[in-house]
Amino acid sequence: MRLLIASSLLGGVLAAQTPLDPAAWGSDHVGKAVPEYTQGDECLFCHRNEIGNAWQRNAHRTTMMQREDAGALVQFLAAGPKTASLARQVTHTLGYRNHVRFLKQDGYGKYDVLNARIDLTPERKVRSIVNADSPKWEGSAKFAGRCAGCHATAVDPATKAASGIGHDCYACHGVVDLEHTNDTSKIFLSKKQRSDAKAITATCASCHLRDFAQSRSTGAPYANNFVPGDNLFKDYQVDWSKAEDANLNPGDRHVYRAVRDVMVNGSDLTCLGCHSLHKSDTLKHRRVLTNPGCQDCHNETGPKSVVKQYEVHSAVCEY
Ligand code: HEC
Ligand code: HEC
Ligand code: HEC
Ligand code: HEC
Ligand code: HEC
Ligand code: HEC
Repeated sequence: MRLLIASSLLGGVLAAQTPLDPAAWGSDHVGKAVPEYTQGDECLFCHRNEIGNAWQRNAHRTTMMQREDAGALVQFLAAGPKTASLARQVTHTLGYRNHVRFLKQDGYGKYDVLNARIDLTPERKVRSIVNADSPKWEGSAKFAGRCAGCHATAVDPATKAASGIGHDCYACHGVVDLEHTNDTSKIFLSKKQRSDAKAITATCASCHLRDFAQSRSTGAPYANNFVPGDNLFKDYQVDWSKAEDANLNPGDRHVYRAVRDVMVNGSDLTCLGCHSLHKSDTLKHRRVLTNPGCQDCHNETGPKSVVKQYEVHSAVCEY
């Protein structure tokens, strides 16, 4: 009886809540030039101790690397009989943790993608080479039109050239006022400017809503000239139903859910309530109050030490 009352009360509260319009705040940079920004090397000159060391291993940096920084990755490709000659042409790698693709620079900010992919085991051994028998370069239109916006930095909407490889500080901190050394409230994501749930969520969402979102103005699967602080959702169209889609893997589904809960349902639990970006950990997620989203990875009842097994796949990322 008591349960019945509680659940009908809850239903009433939910029904009374009007969904928010994610596009209804702020502005964006669609149709504008890419702003001038300070490059990471300069930031790290001052921030090398607290940020620099861990940054070397951060997945956002290693998602695209020059060949000479990529360690053994290109050697894995060179070991295949049919991929060996193409391995010599590789200038950059794409991906690092579980799946790796290979790139050949083709002019300023443009890259040709090799169709072959290396899948790694957790011990960083080669599990398989996909397309090992028929490797070929796919043309630079592919990277520019389908990958650049999420794996490189500051893609020019007109030329589609990326101005930085991997994710420079700009991708999350935006245009940084160098006066911030005296007043850290001037810099997005500083301890003093880390409370705008919508702006934070939009920044992470600008790359993490894979497969079921696209730019209205360009038709590309990535955002058009997003600058942190912008409202992504004026131009980026998202299929919000994916937040509850049991067929979507939990890795991607919990991202859709987290973004939907902030942008549509007015929650203030951002990605940063669970993730520490620079420490690359999720330790604080254990302290969040249980909510329906926990079931993306844990069972409804029983200990939280049990985590549902899942594999992450993505059509747009081709793995
Ligand atoms: C909308 C943004 C977006 C687009 C567009 C995109 N990716 Fe990704 N990609 C991601 C995100 C986010 C991840 C990490 C997801 C995760 O681990 O849950 C990722 C992961 C990957 C990985 C695995 C990295 C690793 O270390 O295991 C590869 C490989 C990859 N993408 C290749 C591509 C290629 C090739 C393209 C273009 C054909 C592409 N992606 C387009 C956002 C994107
Ligand atoms: C992928 C997004 C992202 C990128 C790229 C990024 N940051 Fe951050 N940064 C964050 C977030 C989120 C925080 C808030 C604290 C956290 O989660 O680590 C933060 C916090 C910081 C802080 C404050 C640390 C503290 O003690 O609270 C500094 C300094 C910083 N970033 C510097 C940099 C520099 C320098 C770069 C480039 C080399 C960079 N960040 C790249 C997202 C990013
Ligand atoms: C001339 C040195 C210098 C440069 C260049 C510089 N910073 Fe800073 N930054 C500082 C100092 C000093 C502080 C304040 C003390 C502190 O918190 O480290 C600071 C603070 C920060 C904070 C807030 C830390 C907090 O405690 O909340 C962030 C985030 C940050 N910087 C990111 C960047 C990024 C990103 C760049 C490049 C675009 C950059 N900085 C360039 C010196 C610099
Ligand atoms: C410019 C695009 C971009 C932005 C902005 C971005 N990410 Fe990512 N993120 C990626 C890609 C791509 C990967 C996969 C990199 C790889 O493995 O090659 C990734 C990987 C990750 C991972 C898995 C790797 C790890 O370190 O555990 C987490 C967690 C993550 N991002 C959280 C965030 C959060 C939180 C934000 C917002 C503060 C954010 N990202 C902003 C593109 C982005
Ligand atoms: C309720 C807590 C919670 C929230 C909110 C949350 N995450 Fe996660 N996320 C996790 C946990 C826990 C993992 C699993 C980490 C692991 O496997 O060790 C994870 C995994 C990930 C991964 C996959 C990492 C990998 O190994 O490939 C990415 C990417 C990611 N989160 C991005 C985000 C982004 C972006 C947001 C915000 C839109 C977000 N998360 C919101 C808790 C959360
Ligand atoms: C994206 C998947 C994901 C989501 C969503 C998620 N968890 Fe987890 N959780 C994990 C993984 C993976 C671990 C083991 C590694 C770790 O602690 O980060 C874990 C571990 C835990 C642990 C430690 C259990 C133990 O005894 O070892 C607790 C507590 C926990 N989660 C609580 C929660 C709560 C509460 C939520 C919802 C607010 C949640 N989790 C959402 C993936 C997730």
